[in-house]
Amino acid sequence: MLADILNMPWWVWVIIILVLIGIRDIFLQRKHTIIHNYPVVGHLRYLLEKIGPELRQYLVANNREELPFNRIERGWIYASAKKENNYEGFGTDQDIYTHHHIFINNAMMPFKLEADHPNSIDKTFLPCAKIMGAFNKRKRPYRPASVINVSAMSFGSLSARAIASLNKGVKMAHAFHNTGEGGLSPYHSHGADVIFQFGTGYFGVRNEAGDFSMDKLKELVQGNSFIRAIEIKLSQGAKPGKGGVLPGAKITKQIAKIRGVEVGKDVISPPYHRAFSNVQEMVDFIEAIASETGLPVGIKAAIGKLDEWEALADIMKHTGKGPDFISIDGGEGGTGAAPPSFADHVSLPWVYGFSDLYRVFLNRGLTDRIVFIGSGKLGFPAKAAMAFAMGADCINVAREAMMSIGCIQAQVCHTNRCPSGVATQSKWLQNGIDPNLKSIRLAQYFKTFRKELIEITHAAGYEHPCQFRMSDIEMNVDDQNLAKPLNKTYIYDKSPVPFDGMQNLKECVYLGGNYQRDLSRIVLDGN
Ligand SMILES: Cc1cc2nc3c(=O)[nH]c(=O)nc-3n(C[C@H](O)[C@H](O)[C@H](O)COP(=O)(O)O)c2cc1C
Repeated sequence: MLADILNMPWWVWVIIILVLIGIRDIFLQRKHTIIHNYPVVGHLRYLLEKIGPELRQYLVANNREELPFNRIERGWIYASAKKENNYEGFGTDQDIYTHHHIFINNAMMPFKLEADHPNSIDKTFLPCAKIMGAFNKRKRPYRPASVINVSAMSFGSLSARAIASLNKGVKMAHAFHNTGEGGLSPYHSHGADVIFQFGTGYFGVRNEAGDFSMDKLKELVQGNSFIRAIEIKLSQGAKPGKGGVLPGAKITKQIAKIRGVEVGKDVISPPYHRAFSNVQEMVDFIEAIASETGLPVGIKAAIGKLDEWEALADIMKHTGKGPDFISIDGGEGGTGAAPPSFADHVSLPWVYGFSDLYRVFLNRGLTDRIVFIGSGKLGFPAKAAMAFAMGADCINVAREAMMSIGCIQAQVCHTNRCPSGVATQSKWLQNGIDPNLKSIRLAQYFKTFRKELIEITHAAGYEHPCQFRMSDIEMNVDDQNLAKPLNKTYIYDKSPVPFDGMQNLKECVYLGGNYQRDLSRIVLDGN
């Protein structure tokens, strides 16, 4: 009999398996009505639902359709990162009459580069036109050597190999790397300039009670001279005002050590800071950190209500104190995980939030002393030009940087199953990342980005993007009034950034990004 069963044709086996699945679907499972009512075939619905995003991404969606980043945008990052041909043929495939489309007004005569201009020597050299901490006379002011930098993303939300790839790539690109709020890990320590961020969990700089510890911060800064500035995170665009729980299960020995928490025990980050509870206390906190560490100190936030920002600007005006830089994140910003209600609705998109905020400081004549950093899908040259015209001094990129090292926008960062190994702690998945190769990709993306931004700047008749004015960029706003310059749309004119030539930026003693070494060689060689 056993021999008869084993000799049954294959299709009888298939029928038996389907009948067993059908019995299970009807009688043994109670969770899914569809599977109960349509045994066996009901499974197809769940399968299609599961693979639907991939089917749409690869087969159905057109080039400009997907969000957060469409195929053309992703393709440009991938091609730039791999130093492949990132041009498009036959003209734009975008409908340039659509709402919010931006146009950059080109000059009749583009900016002319002389043979000895820094950009004739290095087509990607583009430092920040402002110095962090210069106005407040911090002990260690910092001029970011790249206007494009890596935005806050923690070790924990990104894999060790992803963080190492970013840090090594940032070093090659002379940029800076923001740690995110998860503390300073060994993977942030490959030599790039680092901006150390902490949020309400004070990870890496907390005492046993979970409160902020100035001693820990001082120790961290003293032990790691590559930390060039401190960023206090108030909020981020994807989930402003939302605290978080770091589940004990995710707290490995290494993460516990880096963050200063206990292995295996849930850690709560409240939505608010415990180190200060109003704007004046926040300014005092900033000043205390700056004087203890000597570093420029900034804040990061997504923008909504303006009353507390007005209060901050008033305090800055009256006391001459306050943050050295402000990172403004757009509501369209990314995250490892956030409830859709927050990600979709809480806080303003970048252009609205930034213009509201910039105006607060502009009205009080304070813009010169603040380095404005923008983030929120700004990782493309034309978007960056628009941001500069509105008053941004640097651009931070998070997801675009992830894509340059292999992220495929699977949008599963919150599941620990990131297929590209970038946003997961799975050893198996991240083993596919080779930090030596991926770091070159990040560096190439940054350099291509800066090169194209410089080219757009020259096309508009300027030497540095800080010279863009609001009236240089136009935007489709509605049907009656198809295109308006930014100053008419957002009703302000950016204050001119003091800029006296790229050569002066190159010679600045506060220039970061390992350029000083190159400069001393230039001086010693006498060329
Ligand atoms: C995986 C991931 C982790 C992030 N972690 C942090 C964080 O720790 N702190 C923070 O301020 N922002 C965090 N962000 C937000 C980014 O720094 C950035 O502000 C936002 O994604 C907008 O930039 P983008 O459009 O270039 O991605 C994170 C974003 C991502 C995608």
